[in-house]
Amino acid sequence: MSGPNTNFDPVRVAALEPEALEEAVSTALAAAAAAAGLDELKAARSAHQGDRSPLALANREIGALPPSAKAEAGKRVGAARARVAEAFATRQSELEMERDARILVEEAVDVTLPTGRRPLGRRHPIELMATRITDIFVGMGWEIAEGPEIEAEWFNFDALNFDEDHPARQMQDTFYVAAPDEVVAHGQAASSHDGGHHDWPSSGLVLRTHTSPVQARALLERGVPLYVACPGRVFRTDDLDATHMPAFHQVEGLAIDEGLTMAHLKGTLDRLASEIFGEGTTTRLRPAYFPFTEPSAEMDLRCFLCHGTNPDCRACKGMGWIEWGGCGMVNHNVLRACGIDPERYSGFAFGMGIDRALMFRTGVSDMRDMIEGDVRFNAQFGMEI
Ligand code: PHE
Repeated sequence: MSGPNTNFDPVRVAALEPEALEEAVSTALAAAAAAAGLDELKAARSAHQGDRSPLALANREIGALPPSAKAEAGKRVGAARARVAEAFATRQSELEMERDARILVEEAVDVTLPTGRRPLGRRHPIELMATRITDIFVGMGWEIAEGPEIEAEWFNFDALNFDEDHPARQMQDTFYVAAPDEVVAHGQAASSHDGGHHDWPSSGLVLRTHTSPVQARALLERGVPLYVACPGRVFRTDDLDATHMPAFHQVEGLAIDEGLTMAHLKGTLDRLASEIFGEGTTTRLRPAYFPFTEPSAEMDLRCFLCHGTNPDCRACKGMGWIEWGGCGMVNHNVLRACGIDPERYSGFAFGMGIDRALMFRTGVSDMRDMIEGDVRFNAQFGMEI
């Protein structure tokens, strides 16, 4: 029977020597410090903390020691492993912080940068209103016609039964573009649509003051029976203010057929008012004068907001009615000027303001907002339909 191996000095087990442990620790700390990234740290960790690391191997040696030596060796190895573990943990959190800081920089989104997105354009609300109104006419089976904005004086005035000295011809209402002799001199006269029975090609040129000249053009071009609507821009020498614009928009209606009466006019206006301003909106006619209609009337719209019940109404200003345009039975002289027999055909015409309709409907109180070209205005109203 052999006795205890008294010569065996456990402290001398090479791997458990303080110097060896110290060496393993400092190599491990250096490796942890040297790791430049989390992947490198992971590799270093398995080399210095893993199962096959020097300290793990040293730990295993402890089991073979006699009980008396175990505690001290265990303490030494444990302390060494704790230092290594702490060094790795510290380095781990350092590297994680570095990574997070880098990600914050690299993946940062600058929400203040202008985006590549282009704002969507909007159609101008006046144009939308005009389209809406012409659509209603098309729905009633009417045709649409357009005429030139620079118009022969003959169409703007003469064909419409304006006397030579009618006040509307005066300079304060009409923008004159060219006198008759200038038109002839510059050869600017448009081609004749009327088969040559009129002398309009030699008339002067004006910016049309209303859409009514398109009545005469449509009659000459298309003949009768005729149901036509003419939207367009018109011009008058008005100063620009909240309720006047030197260029504004009208839509003209003209119906010529056999047997048309003022009842047809009233019915058409009521239908239009209902379509544009809401079912049940009616119109009323007040006697008036236009050279091209007889009888003539001003047309008012029943206030579609308060129906005449609110003295403070923003749309009708408490009047209950809103002025909307002019109308009447087409004057026989106009029919004759366009080569139509007034004994056989009769009809009605009306003209109303598109800009005004837009103002009532939207509550825009200053017409200047409509023409200033601020896209934010369009954006508010341009999607209406
Ligand atoms: N042209 C007229 C105006 O601008 C309106 C109107 C049109 C009147 C048709 C009667 C018939 O004031």
